[in-house]
Order: sequence, then C-alpha cells, then structure tokens
Amino acid sequence: MAFPESFLQDLKMRNDITDVVSSYVSLKRRGRNMVGLCPFHGEKTPSFNVYTENGSFYCFGCGAGGDVITFIMKIENLDYLEAVKLLAQRAGLEIPQDSYDDSMSRLRTRVLEANREAARFYYDSLYSPQGRSGLDYFHSRMLSDKTIRRFGLGFADDNWSSLCNHLRQKGFKDHELVAANLASQRRNGNGIYDRFTNRVMFPIIDLRGNVIAFGGRIMTDQKPKYLNTSDTPVFKKSANLFSLNNAKNSGSRTLLLCEGYMDVIAVNQAGFHNAVATLGTALTSEQAVLMKRYADEIIICYDADEAGQKATARAIPILRNSGLNVKVLTIPSGKDPDEFIKSKGKDGPAAFGALIDKCGNDVEYRLQKLKQNYNLEFTEGKVAFLQDAAKVIATISSPIERDVYSSKVCNELKVDKNAFVQQINSISRKSNRENAKKQARQIQTDLSGRNDKINTEHRQKPRSSSAEEALLVYLINNPDAYSEISSHIAPSQFQNSFIRRYFEYVLNRIQNGLDPLTNIAADFSADEVSKLYQLMSQAIPAASTPDAMREYIKVINEESSKLKKEDLDNISDNQLMDYLERIRKSKQ
Ligand code: CTP
Ligand code: MN
Repeated sequence: MAFPESFLQDLKMRNDITDVVSSYVSLKRRGRNMVGLCPFHGEKTPSFNVYTENGSFYCFGCGAGGDVITFIMKIENLDYLEAVKLLAQRAGLEIPQDSYDDSMSRLRTRVLEANREAARFYYDSLYSPQGRSGLDYFHSRMLSDKTIRRFGLGFADDNWSSLCNHLRQKGFKDHELVAANLASQRRNGNGIYDRFTNRVMFPIIDLRGNVIAFGGRIMTDQKPKYLNTSDTPVFKKSANLFSLNNAKNSGSRTLLLCEGYMDVIAVNQAGFHNAVATLGTALTSEQAVLMKRYADEIIICYDADEAGQKATARAIPILRNSGLNVKVLTIPSGKDPDEFIKSKGKDGPAAFGALIDKCGNDVEYRLQKLKQNYNLEFTEGKVAFLQDAAKVIATISSPIERDVYSSKVCNELKVDKNAFVQQINSISRKSNRENAKKQARQIQTDLSGRNDKINTEHRQKPRSSSAEEALLVYLINNPDAYSEISSHIAPSQFQNSFIRRYFEYVLNRIQNGLDPLTNIAADFSADEVSKLYQLMSQAIPAASTPDAMREYIKVINEESSKLKKEDLDNISDNQLMDYLERIRKSKQ
C-alpha cells in the first residue's frame, strides 16, 4: 500500500524544493528558475535547474531529474520510504501509520542493525583474550587505545562462526546476515559462515552515523591484505569515503585524501581530523562531488610509490572537474603518510604538518613531475619541456593563476614570456573549440535520442514518439485538457510503449482527480523519473499551446492508422480496402 495522496501533497508543500535543494547546493536565480552546480556529477558551469513552480529539478549535464523526494533519494542515497521519512521529519509531519509496507526498506534497516551489532561484537572481541593478537597488532602499529575507540576498530577471530552465532542470538536471520555481507552461504547450501575471520576490523560509518560496511586487514603477509564488504543494500563503495563522518566535523574546508584506512587513522592520531580515504577503489567522480559538499580544497596524500603517483595523476582532473582546488602532498623517501609519521617518532605530527604547509597545488605538482622528464641544460630539452608545460598551464581556467605560472616557468628557464603565453593561448583556444564541438555533438545525440538507453523506442519511431512525448508533457502541464485529449486519443494508439505507460498513468490519475506526478517517485524507477523530467524540461513554450496539442493529436492519429508492414502481409482483402479508404480520407 502506498502513502495517502493527501499526506504526499502536504509533504511536498511543506518541503519547498528550492529550500531543500539549497541546503545541499548553492543556487542562483536565472529567469524563472534557480540554477547551481549539479551535485550528481562534476561540473564547473551550472546546468542543474530547480523549477520552483512545479517542484522539480533537472540537470541538463547528466540527465538527473525528479521531484523533491527523488532529490533526497539520490543525494542521501536513500530508498523511497526513507526519503519520505526524512522529508516528513524535516517538515514536522507525522508519517501515517501502517500506510506503507516495503520489504526492501525493512531489509535495509535490519542490515544496518546487524552491522552496528557486529561492530560492537568486533570491538569487544578485540579486548577479550581471543582478540589479543589483534590488539597487539594495532599497538605494534602505534595506535593508542583512544584511537582504537574513536574509530571503533575491532577483531574477527578465526572460528568461522563466532559472529553468526552472536547475531543469531540477537535475533538476526541468516538471510539478513548474508544480505549484510557479514556472512556467506556455504557452497552445499547448508547454512552460513562468517565472512571476516582472523582479521583486524575497520568499520565504515556514513554521515548519519550508520555502520554501513567493514574493511578487514590480515595481520600477516598473506593475501588479500584487505577484505572489504561488497556492495549491499546499504553500501556502495564507489559512493562512500572512509572517515568522512569525522572529517566533516573537523571544522576545516580542506580534506586530506589518503589511500587507505591506516593512513587516515594515523593522520587522525597525529591531530589532523580532516582525512578521508576511498574504499579499495580508484577515486570516482561521485566521491569528488560528495567531498565538494564539505570542502573547497583537497590535499592528495597518496603513497610516494609509483602506484600512488599514478593514482594522483588520475585523481587530479576528477577533483578539479568537481570545482575543488587541489594540492598534492609530497612525502619523502617513498613512504605513505602512516609510515612517514611513525618514522618521525614524537615529531611525527609536526613533521606531517610541515609537509602540509609546504605542499604545492596540482599545477606545481604536474610541472614538477614534467621537469623530471627533460634535461633542461640543453635547448631541445628546454623547448620540449616548455611545450608540455604550456599544455598543463592551458588547463587552468583562471587568467590570474595562468599568468602567475607562466611567469614562474619563464623566469626559471630565463626565456621570453610573450612567446610562451601565445603558445598557451593558442592551445586553450583550440581546446575550447573542441569542447564546444563536443558539447554540440552531445546535444545533437541527446535530441536525436540515438543514445537514449531508457526511451529506446524513440529512435525507431521518431515521428510518433516526438508527438506522443509532447502530448504527454502537455497533459501533465494542462490536466484540464484531459477531456479533449481523451476524446481524441486512446493510450492504445501510442506506438512507443514506454511513453504509453506514462500516458496511461497520467490519464488515470487525472481521471481520479489526482495531481499527475505527486506519487511518481514511488511508481517509477529513478531512471524513468529522470527521463520524464527530461522530457518536461526540454519542452519549449511554443510547444505547449492548444494548437500545438491538436497537432500532436493529429500526428498520433496518422501514425497509429498506418498499418505495420507485417500486418499488411496478413491482411484480408476487405481490411485492405478499408485501410486504403482511410488513407485517402486523411489525405483530403
Ligand atoms: N586495499 C584493498 N584491498 C587490498 C589492498 C588494498 O581494498 N588487497 C585498499 C585498502 O582500502 C587499503 C588501501 O587500498 O587501505 C591502500 O592499500 P595499501 O597501500 O596496500 O595499504 P596501506 O593503506 O598502506 O595498509 P597497511 O599500512 O596496513 O599495509
Ligand atoms: Mn601503509
């Protein structure tokens, strides 16, 4: 059963979309809409639109769209029911009791409860006699008991069933533990066993304080060194960061991006609470966008080894594209932050602080790296370096910043700045032109529907689809045209089955006196909701007049009266005569 319509209407009225979005995105007025940088993909110029009048949002860059419930689902990574709960709480509304039964939501709640209980169990084990080896391991890595408590670190013993037994006693069902990825099913189908054994455990905690996953490190040189929770109903590794819950309260708008759990913890123990790490994968733009909510500047603190340097090179554009300032920390003698701090003994915190103070931004870092590839004693080396350096500087969008680096490079190499600046300008003009072309091509493909993975039938039936889409949008915006539209067109005449589903849905709601879209987030998938809002956002005012509507009806009627080729093959003589008669009439 779904929520009562009146409750959802109240919910939406009391959660004005502009207010809600504004607490995540800084919005500016542009004409009748509000625009801002999209929180769902990295961008430097705003293409994220909020339409106050119909309570919706749509991003022309990545195609995300929907109503206020969809927005909360996406940005907080919640399911429908949880998003409604959050909005109800925000507006001080009571959720109608027993009005919604959602087994997925219940499973998510159970998984979170199991995780919390597991974290407690692992922590207690660490301080029990069986956990001795784990505690010794952490102590050998110089972690204090205070740090262990702060991060809720723990220990999974090698019994293969300790956690399962404990959680069963607490009332958890086997399938819930498997769903949480705390246990695995035996191959013979006979019961379950602990997923983490003989490892020290790192709980991963989200921004609401939920334990959403674990990382476990083996205490020897065996492989795999780290084992992580796979994606579960409450955890997506590409969209979360270790210790962001701590970092967001550090009072700093700078985040230290580390490679692993131990680095973050060591850096914290040294007094820097603004450290985060990805969870065993390369940095994603989802994570960059998430960081942008809490930070303006990222200091990359990856290992000084080759893998770390490659990862740094990959991370820089992802972070920059999300509008973050980027700096790169250089750690001497091939160490990671944890090893560096430890190697300095009691001076570790101060020494790490000094590294942070003197770290250069990403452009300096890249120029520095480039320089190592050339022999600047010789003219050829200088020329080749300058050409590459021009490419790096051309990626900077701020003219002042560009000028500063150009001067620096030219002073250092004692060359004339004019020629260098000309080179930079010509590279950036060329790349601007290419970007513009790329964007134009993208818009063309979007409009043609060729790459549309959701509304796939559009490309096969462009004429009827366009008219059907336009009529659908018209009907949503003008529910009072219901009688006229439904007297001329039946949903069965829609050739595009995807659009037909929306049309039937909207007709049905209007017929029952309901607003067309109040419940859309519950009745369609997130991608389908985005697609519908895309159609609505792309509609131009000229396309939504009564005359235009009649034109759509005409086209839909024409297209639906065309017989399909296979129908023509099997048609009886009488039907064929009928058909020809109809075509003749419509041409008159
Ligand atoms: N990682 C992983 N699986 C592995 C190895 C690494 O998921 N088999 C992830 C972990 O999140 C780890 C990070 O990659 O924290 C960095 O790995 P690595 O540099 O090898 O480990 P350290 O962080 O240096 O860990 P330690 O100091 O404990 O060796
Ligand atoms: Mn390490």
